[in-house]
Amino acid sequence: MSVLETGGRGFLNGRLTEDQPGEASTSEADCKVCVAVHVRPLIDTEAVEGCQSTLQVTAGQPQISCGQSYTYDHVFGGGGTHPDLLYDRCVMPLVHGLFRGYNATVFAYGQTGSGKTYTMGSAFNAGGPARGVIPKVMEAIFARISSNKDTGFTVRVGFVEIHREDIRDLLVLDPRAQSAVHIREVAGGGVCLAGATEKEVGSQAEMADVLAQGSLLRATGSTGMNKHSSRSHAIFTITLEQRREIPGVAAGAESGSDDEEAMGAGETEYLCAKMHLVDLAGSERVKRTKAEGTRLKEGIDINKGLLALGNVINALAEGKAHVPYRDSRLTRMLQDSLGGNSRTVMIACVSPADINLDETANTLRYAARARNISNKPVVNRDPVVAQIAHLRQMLAAARSENQTLKHKLGGDVAQLEGSRGTWDSAGIPSGDDILAEQFEELQRRHSKTELDNASLRLQLVSV
Ligand SMILES: Nc1ncnc2c1ncn2[C@@H]1O[C@H](COP(=O)(O)OP(=O)(O)OP(=O)(O)O)[C@@H](O)[C@H]1O
Ligand SMILES: [Mg+2]
Repeated sequence: MSVLETGGRGFLNGRLTEDQPGEASTSEADCKVCVAVHVRPLIDTEAVEGCQSTLQVTAGQPQISCGQSYTYDHVFGGGGTHPDLLYDRCVMPLVHGLFRGYNATVFAYGQTGSGKTYTMGSAFNAGGPARGVIPKVMEAIFARISSNKDTGFTVRVGFVEIHREDIRDLLVLDPRAQSAVHIREVAGGGVCLAGATEKEVGSQAEMADVLAQGSLLRATGSTGMNKHSSRSHAIFTITLEQRREIPGVAAGAESGSDDEEAMGAGETEYLCAKMHLVDLAGSERVKRTKAEGTRLKEGIDINKGLLALGNVINALAEGKAHVPYRDSRLTRMLQDSLGGNSRTVMIACVSPADINLDETANTLRYAARARNISNKPVVNRDPVVAQIAHLRQMLAAARSENQTLKHKLGGDVAQLEGSRGTWDSAGIPSGDDILAEQFEELQRRHSKTELDNASLRLQLVSV
């Protein structure tokens, strides 16, 4: 295998796998955070300063050494896997998972100037090249939607930044119209953003416009280390809602039979999953950025948020009981992505230049720790629909027991048959607002079947 083809593909000990196109193979068991390192080339300013590359990527292995050696899920660039494969290897499985109802997060981490914005493609300009993770995700989502005519899709996007511990809505063009955005806990331990705009988009071009407009509003500034330095953490969120008829009936099940009903055939399944695409601001040293005034204050806040993120990574990696999510807005927003309901990829961006060795070593150390974090992704279904599916299963089990008991009795069960006929003729109405009705109907049927079972059991005892 050539060096360019290397990379830690596959699924080991609950790690994210590369799914088959159109399918994701994630189980709902714990799933480790997938960590990739992206080594950018030396940039002009580093070349002019006569910097040398200090990173060694082990041939054929996702392993980097800079004094100490670390192993990751993938290493792109710097002699590792070709960076063009980053999307296919790391992000595409998450997009497939999104269509199966799994939340996903991709976040880029690293010092200022290490290539996070470049890698994520978050400074996307609608007329420019579609480079980076976010433009590729947009393309993949709409390609899949257009090839699937059996499902009703709704796609919404949100774009916020955390700037100096304030959350700003990047979809509100007029700063005077900005309203307060708050992080709220939701049932099940996750978080959501109250007060943030969500725009429904119907095409890749519309989504790209939203990204480009929001990027223009994002706080950026020039520092001694990066001419276009991100001065905020930016979070682009895609919400995918799907409604589709539950297809097919198990082989052998008759139309209109209990089996068919138990499978939920003809019912609508509703999935809703989110994908967070996060371009963090980079850690920086004042001595090197030469930041003053506002830039300096921004730099201090950026470092504070990243320190809190580092503490959360440490606590999760060490399995501590208390994880300090509440120490910063950034860590609260990433609460689900790190240790929660999400399939997550962390892309650690590093510069190979000797001048950045300390910061690079720091990034590599945190990235290696993040590989120990376990998440618990679950399929995000409408809870009412899920409950109905569960009740259907219980009903089918009770009916099957009913049949067995009748068989054992082998006698006069005409009365029970008669009453059962009336349940089957009840019919199940359809439409969005009748889920509760269906639910009650199922509960009634289940209780009735359970009652019948009790009566059959009594008759059996007395035989
Ligand atoms: N893989 C790459 N190939 C070529 N140039 C790159 C690559 N990654 C980054 N660069 C260049 O390096 C510079 C810094 O990149 P970028 O702005 O993405 O860094 P950053 O990590 O987002 O920094 P900050 O934290 O300050 O926002 C840019 O000029 C960018 O074009
Ligand atoms: Mg940036």
